Amino acid sequence: MPQRPYVIDKMISAKAIAARIEDLCGEIKAEFTDTDKLVVVGLLRGSFVFIADLVRELDLPIEVDFLEASSYGDGMESSREVRILKDLRGTIEGRDVLVVEDIVDTGYTMHHVIRLLKGRNPAKLRTIALLDKPTKREVEVKADWTGFEIPDEFVVGYGIDFAQRNRNLPYIGKVRFT
Ligand code: IMP
Repeated sequence: MPQRPYVIDKMISAKAIAARIEDLCGEIKAEFTDTDKLVVVGLLRGSFVFIADLVRELDLPIEVDFLEASSYGDGMESSREVRILKDLRGTIEGRDVLVVEDIVDTGYTMHHVIRLLKGRNPAKLRTIALLDKPTKREVEVKADWTGFEIPDEFVVGYGIDFAQRNRNLPYIGKVRFT
């Protein structure tokens, strides 16, 4: 599908993201202190930059695993139907789990993933989302930690894409069609 031309307006700087991650990691470390069984689960693909920065601020003994759920495809609207495209490599039964998501929008993805992982009997399950668009919510779900609440804008950068582009921007920007 040919892409309409657009520009990206900066919304959250790389510096602001780094500062927020440092704050959040203080709280996460307190929650998981004394554990040697934490698995940090990144939801692909949008969380790959966030999880990389997050785990380097977490000086805890952790393992990293990934789960891929279907989401927007190449469009700008949630499909509302969540399918698991790639499952975890490891088992989480009896482990502490921190699920790392890029954006909670309608909430379908997070809701589905929490239900799936809870069914595998982890000792503790917590969630973190870099961004939250609360006005778009259709399913009641809230991450235990949120980086930034944002308005209903389509955003890209810092791992987040528009039709697979712009993931490599170091900041979060909003898409504006020209
Ligand atoms: P939800 O299931 O509607 O909450 O959508 C969650 C997923 O949709 C996120 O993990 C993103 O992959 C994608 N998404 C939601 N909002 C945006 C956006 O503004 N830009 C790019 N992807 C988005």
